[in-house]
Amino acid sequence: MTEGARAGDDVNVAQAGEPEAASRREPGDVLVRVRGLRKHFPIRSGMTRRRAGTVKAVDGLDFDIREGETLGLVGESGCGKSTTGRMVMRLLEPSEGTIEFGGRDLTRLSRGQLRPLRRDFQMIFQDPQSSLNPRHTVGTIVGLPFRLQKVTPEGGVKKAVQELLELVGLSPEHYNRYPHEFSGGQRQRIGIARALALRPKLVVADEPVSALDVSIQAQVVNLLDDLQSEFGLTYLIIAHDLSVVRHTSDRVAVMYLGKIVEIADREDLYSSPKHPYTVALMSAVPVPDPARRESRDRILLKGDVPSPMDPPPACRFHTRCWKAQDICKTQEPPLAELTTRHQVACHFPENMPTEDGAGEAVLLAKPAPADAVAAGEGAEAVAETSAEAPAETSADGAAEPVAESSTDSPAETPAAASPKAPDEAPGKDTPPTPAP
Ligand SMILES: Nc1ncnc2c1ncn2[C@@H]1O[C@H](COP(=O)(O)OP(=O)(O)OP(=O)(O)O)[C@@H](O)[C@H]1O
Ligand code: SF4
Ligand SMILES: [Mg+2]
Repeated sequence: MTEGARAGDDVNVAQAGEPEAASRREPGDVLVRVRGLRKHFPIRSGMTRRRAGTVKAVDGLDFDIREGETLGLVGESGCGKSTTGRMVMRLLEPSEGTIEFGGRDLTRLSRGQLRPLRRDFQMIFQDPQSSLNPRHTVGTIVGLPFRLQKVTPEGGVKKAVQELLELVGLSPEHYNRYPHEFSGGQRQRIGIARALALRPKLVVADEPVSALDVSIQAQVVNLLDDLQSEFGLTYLIIAHDLSVVRHTSDRVAVMYLGKIVEIADREDLYSSPKHPYTVALMSAVPVPDPARRESRDRILLKGDVPSPMDPPPACRFHTRCWKAQDICKTQEPPLAELTTRHQVACHFPENMPTEDGAGEAVLLAKPAPADAVAAGEGAEAVAETSAEAPAETSADGAAEPVAESSTDSPAETPAAASPKAPDEAPGKDTPPTPAP
């Protein structure tokens, strides 16, 4: 996690203010290397259970996670985040692709071969209530990894469990209590203690705070941060809440309909989002300062997310993108490194630096004349000014994105969250329809 990510203990993560510039750690070696990862779920129907279709939940992901870093994975509900996390944990078999962990391809290992490696990667689940067996005591729950892996810690399992409880801010006396005797935040601490029992290298946290009361989200985020510093953990943090990702991640990957559309260092992504979908998501992030909030333009993406059973061809975002042109419907943009450590899958990215540093868009594909292109054919972006405090703190909230541009990041940058007028950009980006 980032140093600047630390929020006050009693502060909602979403309202913890702008993170300070993070001190960049030198990235370590690659711990996790994912290539061509796919998960297609067959859908069956009828008495004969014949195959009625395929959900392309994850459809070709490439990304690395380096030792000691936190990669945030963000996107709207149903875009494939949890499926990705579960495949990285090998709780779900990939349809295609490789997942290397410390140089070994996990997808080629049998269950037996995988078992001893499992202690190196552990998962924290979204719902601490359902992920803890209500019939087991805390001692049994947190001690389970030792028993499963047949590990006898020095001093015995009980002592080790009690130390873990203290580590996550619980009392050793909680050892004999049951999950229902704890609050949501405490239950998540129990889940964290269990995940850390065997001192894993990688922790996949799927929506680790979204089930928690906002008042304790920051406490859990800070705990994860402290534990990372203490044990040199590597995190994959999955969240639909952009504020959580912003406060926890060194790098952020943005997913849309089973694909990564943008991946970059956190500051770079938030100050200069390049994929139009990221721009829309970022502009929905709430700003604590009401004065700045009022000056933001908001982008409304029209329409629902298409079905992962029948995703749009080429660029999957083209049905909702205000910049879509013909090429977007016929040629899939590759996830390419457009600036240093910043990969984007878009033919017409935003916020590209120019030679004079003006920050105008640099087009990767030759656009059609502006008047020959329909405005995204149903993918209408609407800029509006709203004095309302945005309720949305999440990618879900931006499914009907209510995105704002503001004087702070990311809309501070010229093009962020403010789609250009036709004569403004050299590429004649298809403009959004201004709100009345
Ligand atoms: N076992 C399954 N069988 C069929 N479809 C599935 C299965 N698991 C997930 N899916 C589908 O795969 C897609 C991705 O699901 P996933 O749970 O990974 O999304 P997500 O990004 O984690 O969403 P959320 O933010 O709501 O948790 C969804 O369309 C979901 O309905
Ligand atoms: S400009 Fe084209 S390639 Fe880029 S996100 Fe929009 S539709 Fe996709
Ligand atoms: Mg999920």
